[in-house]
Amino acid sequence: MSMHETDRPMLFDSHSHYDDEAFDEDRDALLKSLPENGIEGVVNVGSSLETVKKTIALMDEYDHVYGAIGIHPNETGGLTESHIQWLQVQCGLPKAVAVGEIGLDYYWDTPERPVQKKWFERQLQMAKEVDLPVIIHSRDAAADTLDMMKALHGGETGGVIHCFSYGKELAREYLNMGLYIGVGGVVTFKNAKKLKEVVAYAPMDRIVLETDCPYLAPVPNRGKRNSSLNLPYVAEEIAGIKGLPVEEVIRITTENTKALYHLR
Ligand code: NI
Repeated sequence: MSMHETDRPMLFDSHSHYDDEAFDEDRDALLKSLPENGIEGVVNVGSSLETVKKTIALMDEYDHVYGAIGIHPNETGGLTESHIQWLQVQCGLPKAVAVGEIGLDYYWDTPERPVQKKWFERQLQMAKEVDLPVIIHSRDAAADTLDMMKALHGGETGGVIHCFSYGKELAREYLNMGLYIGVGGVVTFKNAKKLKEVVAYAPMDRIVLETDCPYLAPVPNRGKRNSSLNLPYVAEEIAGIKGLPVEEVIRITTENTKALYHLR
């Protein structure tokens, strides 16, 4: 371990979307600047066939970018079994660290729920076949997500409930499955009482930091384009809730992210 690493722990962004067009202007400069700004690595998360291809290009180009391979529930409309076969091959790439983001989204509620469920189930099965942890997206779909996770996965390959938006009871269910809780910019919002309670409740060794960038920038940059450079605000908020030094939150959450994705 170098002096630098012992002096100042580095952050890890467990969930980002640097493929997004919001980064077209400065993607290369921004990604290259992350390590010198205290960000050790990022996981770029696929959400459609197109963004999975872009994720693979990013993880090929940048040493500190890893990738997650999966189709977001709202993008499952045109999916076929041959697409799944293609995704499964991509899961074998050396820097593919998770299947995601997959799940259920009844906020946007499209395509129809049986279609979302079918491809959530299929991708959970794929995760077990390739033995990769899952990144779960669940919005306004608490009961169905939990039922399917219990019946079809049960934490078998590990994983994270990303952008956790439910209460303590649901957190306990997922923690009992051995899963991690993904916490991002929302925790800094004044009205995020429920998430602050979840952070207070969850053991420190089960929380990972995420941006979901370009979305969900924390206070004081709420509403602006988000990036991993904003992660210190998330770490500071968690440190305040937990009563820990921020360096300790950074050190533990980076360890957690590496454990979650099996990174050394
Ligand atoms: Ni996302």
